[in-house]
Amino acid sequence: MSIAGRPRRPRSGAGAERAGDGAGDAALGWLDPAGPPAPDQVHRVLAAVLAAGGAVGWVTVPDRAESDRWLAERVAEVAAGRSRVALVTAGGRLAGVGRWSWYDSPTVAVNGDVRQVMVHPEARGRGLARLLVGALVEDARAYGVETLTLDVRGNNHAAMALYEAFGFQVAGRLPDFVAVGDERWDRVIYRLDLRGADAPVRRHGARPVGPGASTLTTQIRPARFPEQALAGPAAPA
Ligand SMILES: CC(C)(COP(=O)(O)OP(=O)(O)OC[C@H]1O[C@@H](n2cnc3c(N)ncnc32)[C@H](O)[C@@H]1OP(=O)(O)O)[C@@H](O)C(=O)NCCC(=O)NCCS
Repeated sequence: MSIAGRPRRPRSGAGAERAGDGAGDAALGWLDPAGPPAPDQVHRVLAAVLAAGGAVGWVTVPDRAESDRWLAERVAEVAAGRSRVALVTAGGRLAGVGRWSWYDSPTVAVNGDVRQVMVHPEARGRGLARLLVGALVEDARAYGVETLTLDVRGNNHAAMALYEAFGFQVAGRLPDFVAVGDERWDRVIYRLDLRGADAPVRRHGARPVGPGASTLTTQIRPARFPEQALAGPAAPA
């Protein structure tokens, strides 16, 4: 299904780039379905990240078959125009990956979600994640993504510092939501609004106007969004 208003091509180029100071010979590229990265290199990164306890969705270290399935899913998503996968190489081999994906449901399909940013443990602390996240943000902006979201496990303070350095702001927190065995951590939800002040959208926030609006039949003041819920639409400027 095509979704109105979603550009399928970037508004400007977002090609390969070289790393800045500190990242040595690192280079950034994008997963091309016609020539995806070597599966053994992908497995090397995924397995090392998970073996070091990386919080990227798995609870166990993926074996080669699982890693190959993951890569096949990424290739299919990119080929379908649903996702973009950034790859960073260092020393001539894959050292890190990250991706952003369009949201699926039509009413939120103008937005994207950053997922699974990870750098091989041996290549950390050299700016590779900064390279990945900077590229993902600018790529999403070039594709016309309105808001980028992501979530971080509440104990992952290095990742939070990384994303906050790019302007991501905490939008919410699901307490003790992430489960590994009997341990629970918060899911911290971040957002980065990529829209300029002149974006051609009418922002209603939580005002009860437009499709999907409902009004209260009771005079009980709602605990949530009390001002927006009862104020109605803003007066025209
Ligand atoms: C988080 C992760 C991607 C960082 O990769 P990295 O290549 O070492 O990060 P960089 O060297 O590019 O650091 C970029 C910024 O991230 C932040 N950062 C990264 N590691 C940090 C640490 N241990 N402590 C504090 N800040 C840290 C800093 O803001 C840093 O900028 P600075 O160097 O100017 O201070 C990496 O540790 C990783 O793969 N972790 C496991 C997977 C994971 O948790 N991914 C995030 C999922 S939401």
